[in-house]
Amino acid sequence: MLKTLGAHVKEYTAASIATPIFMLMEVALETIIPLLMASIIDDGVNKGDTHHIFIMGAWMILAALLSLFSGCMGAKFGSKASMGLGKNLRKAMFENIQTYAFSNIDKFSTAGLVTRLTTDVTNIQNAYQMILRMAMRAPATILCAMAMSFFISPTLASIYLAAVILLGIALSIIIRKAMKYFDHAFEKYDELNESVQENVSAIRVVKAYVREDYEKKRFTTASQNIYNVFTKAESLVILNNPLMMFTVYSCILLISWLGAHMVVNSALETGDLMALLTYCMNILMSLMILSMIFVMISLSVASARRICEVLNEESDLHNPSDPVYEVADGSIEFKNVTFRYSKSSETPVLDNINLSIKSGETIGIIGGTGSSKSSLVNLISRLYDVDEGSVSVGGRDVRDYDMDSLRNQVSVVLQQNTLFSGSILDNLRWGDPNATEEECKKACELACADEFIQTFPDGYETHIEQGGTNVSGGQKQRLCIARALLKKPKILILDDSTSAVDTATDAKIRKAFREAIPGTTKLIIAQRISSVQDADRIIVMDDGKLNGFDTHENLLANNEIYRDVYESQTQGGGDFDEGGAA
Ligand SMILES: Nc1ncnc2c1ncn2[C@@H]1O[C@H](COP(=O)(O)OP(=O)(O)OP(=O)(O)O)[C@@H](O)[C@H]1O
Ligand SMILES: [Mg+2]
Repeated sequence: MLKTLGAHVKEYTAASIATPIFMLMEVALETIIPLLMASIIDDGVNKGDTHHIFIMGAWMILAALLSLFSGCMGAKFGSKASMGLGKNLRKAMFENIQTYAFSNIDKFSTAGLVTRLTTDVTNIQNAYQMILRMAMRAPATILCAMAMSFFISPTLASIYLAAVILLGIALSIIIRKAMKYFDHAFEKYDELNESVQENVSAIRVVKAYVREDYEKKRFTTASQNIYNVFTKAESLVILNNPLMMFTVYSCILLISWLGAHMVVNSALETGDLMALLTYCMNILMSLMILSMIFVMISLSVASARRICEVLNEESDLHNPSDPVYEVADGSIEFKNVTFRYSKSSETPVLDNINLSIKSGETIGIIGGTGSSKSSLVNLISRLYDVDEGSVSVGGRDVRDYDMDSLRNQVSVVLQQNTLFSGSILDNLRWGDPNATEEECKKACELACADEFIQTFPDGYETHIEQGGTNVSGGQKQRLCIARALLKKPKILILDDSTSAVDTATDAKIRKAFREAIPGTTKLIIAQRISSVQDADRIIVMDDGKLNGFDTHENLLANNEIYRDVYESQTQGGGDFDEGGAA
């Protein structure tokens, strides 16, 4: 885990090394200052040597300034290194997520990924900064101050050596107890994030089902749980402070009392006593900081693990070593294809599929919900890999192609499609970044989107909200089709892409396709037979199996499922579908 995270320090290595060095310099200077002070008192004030006071005073100012400078530089490089690590981690995670295959994405939840990219990275960032600045500084301060104290007076130094040990034990007990609560807090955070994420992204559904009160309660509970856990943990952690203060003042009292006696008996000089008191403060403070570092490190272990999961997740799909960049034509062939989403499941989602589609053909795909229509077409653009058999496009196995080249030629309008925030033109240019406005307009005409875009006051510059919430379902579908058309693909797949479009427009779109892009192989998944009956051939899917693959007329004559669906859709009088496609 450390190796994975450490690999992302990269260009901030120098800053990461400089930080502890500056912090150590600060410690060294802080150790010298009490000695100079002691010398001022013992050799200057007590002996009435003003010259010595000035010289030592000047050295003290210099040491203090240098210490301040080191502290500032340590803070500067510490921030630079930790923010840099955070930036690199976010970038690496984001880039890795982009390489994920659909099957990898299935493993993580969206809310989980967002939390990992934000909260978890911030945790690591803070912990790293703390470690760089304090992990060396605090122990170094303790060691230096301890050494100096023993050098000055072993008797008095042993007092706070004892105090340090006792305080150390007490702190570790408190932290261990608090950590149990903190561990709990992370689970509660996940619950809260889930509640927020789900409600904000699906606020419309929440309202439609009048679930506001229930969701509010859920959120309040999640939020209250975090409050409870943190109050418990923090009420333990804040014990650190009084405990520490008690120890500090007890030590100071003891040292002052014993020290004063020693000074009276000339066993110790006044200045040395002052120095001892300062070292005592430094040591106990550092101990306190060390305890905070432990809390922070333990807190960030969970975050580190979650980040590493994202970073180490390898895409299930790989480009071949010698990829083919050209897709010869739009022909498609499935040979004995078997496919499952989960390798452990017994029944395959696609069961021994064999079919062959010629370039330029229009193919309809029909079948009940869950009959694996989407799964079938997702294999063509290699969104998933087959378990057995092979899928070929343009005469070559899809696994031989460079994935980007293949997907540029196989344009899919996914069933759950989405638009992005930006203008209509921006959205269309996802299909082809260099498309002129004229080309965009042409694609929209084919997809019957131009007619409604023209009615918007801002036309093609109309702003689309995130997820396309400010256009209707049918309008969104038509924009998605236009976007896919702009890719000028050899194969165009429409996965239930006109389900929200009225039948007449649906027929118009299909007619436009026939006339404008005759060379493109078109696969149209639909629930309405009218949407596919004018296709060259129609695939009938049933529970993951190919039930029929023929023309409308032949299927009507020979395929029972097809005939049943056709009859149920055309009978009963006022079926919308009848007029649309005939
Ligand atoms: N990402 C996924 N992970 C696991 N199982 C899945 C996934 N997507 C689909 N399935 C399962 O695979 C089967 C086929 O689903 P598929 O989406 O291909 O059906 P479909 O014919 O497109 O249905 P619909 O008409 O409702 O779109 C279903 O049983 C479904 O539960
Ligand atoms: Mg589907």
